[in-house]
Amino acid sequence: MEKLIIDGGVKLSGELEVYSAKNCVLALLAASVLTEKNVVIHNCPKITDVLNMIKILESLGSVVIWHGDTIVIDSSNISRFEIPSNYAKEIRSSLFLMGSLLSRFKKTKAAFPGGCDIGIRPIDLHLKGFRALNVTVKEEGGHIICNGQHARGGRIHLDFPSVGATENIMLAAILLKGKTTITNAAKEPEVVALQDFLNAMGAKVKGAGTDQIEIDGVKKLGAVEFTPIPDRIVAGTYLIAGAITHGELLIKNCCPKHLEALTDKLKNAVSKIAVFEKDIYIKADGDLISVPLTETQPYPGFPTDLQAQTLALQTVSKGSGIIVENIFETRYKHVAELTKMGANIVVKDKIALVRGVKNLHGAEVTAHDLRGGAALVLAGLCAVGRTEISDIKHIDRGYLNFDMALRSVGAKIERI
Ligand code: EPZ
Repeated sequence: MEKLIIDGGVKLSGELEVYSAKNCVLALLAASVLTEKNVVIHNCPKITDVLNMIKILESLGSVVIWHGDTIVIDSSNISRFEIPSNYAKEIRSSLFLMGSLLSRFKKTKAAFPGGCDIGIRPIDLHLKGFRALNVTVKEEGGHIICNGQHARGGRIHLDFPSVGATENIMLAAILLKGKTTITNAAKEPEVVALQDFLNAMGAKVKGAGTDQIEIDGVKKLGAVEFTPIPDRIVAGTYLIAGAITHGELLIKNCCPKHLEALTDKLKNAVSKIAVFEKDIYIKADGDLISVPLTETQPYPGFPTDLQAQTLALQTVSKGSGIIVENIFETRYKHVAELTKMGANIVVKDKIALVRGVKNLHGAEVTAHDLRGGAALVLAGLCAVGRTEISDIKHIDRGYLNFDMALRSVGAKIERI
């Protein structure tokens, strides 16, 4: 089992380039099976969630070829419409394939996705959406079986602006007769990028980025060549790495607008934040000032995927701060690990009270989920002494060469 070994205390300095967003690429991969023509996606990060999603596409009959960081997908010969159950449990985004397979084959089948370390993560909103499109959905033997023979456009109101449900319903509606309207839709940038990708293939989608999305069904889709949006969560994680080490970093090829909720908080916590068209500069040579209150919300609110990293920053900021995790039920698995490093955190339900300490000390800690694991790396970068992080497979799901990137700006971090 690989581990990360970090000797803390180095002020990071230099430039870090951001690559394409995991949560954008995963949705595009699911959408690629909608067309029989060639799909070209540039700048694809070779992270395990993406590699696993490609394996699922191949198990359905797609042909996927890498050319450097570009992938070319040919789904003309897809013959299966059932998502292999081992994968459905492995990665949740395999569920997005249900919408695409429904659209193209008018039927699909998948195992109920495993819960994961950040909550029960039901799929009731996905299935409610399919039923509103006149899809019959049966749940038997731990499987979901969908029949869309009589499916047609419809109107869906989402009780919660779920990203996955919004994307899945969009995909299910693309090739259906009639018009589909989704109200209280998720407004994440990844949803907007999916709309752009679908329209580039010849779909008729509008409204992504607002809480109402409209889809006019079309008969067939064409080819598409597309570059995904930069990963706002990786960019945010890098910014916090600069802050927590009192360093100075220029984060390149990101989309500052997507990070406004974070930079708005950081500008009162560090000595300097400067935002350019595609870059963000951070300098944290003074004290880190605690952020009084951080509440995770659907976009454009503060992203839940940056909660753990922000909490890590708070543990060594002057003063105390409250964090409220409103999106997932149990997204505080990193707290116990940070406490081993000397952090002063009290958690009650969805609220975490963090009192800043002078410094953390190195310890042997375990990553329990993707963003919590990233938070432990950030804590290790500023802790006095050596930190050993195990179960780093979680981190590799969403960060490409994380240790290599941090080493390039001075971090003493090794993968063993
Ligand atoms: C997407 O997950 C992201 N994953 C998550 O990123 C991200 O944290 C999340 O959106 C919120 O922004 C991908 O895009 C692959 P949701 P998703 O549906 O779609 C509840 C990461 O670290 N819910 O918006 O699963 C659900 O339980 C990952 O990159 C229902 O109740 O998130 C959760 O509490 C982690 N019923 C809340 O909504 C449903 O049918 C938000 O879930 C669906 C969701």
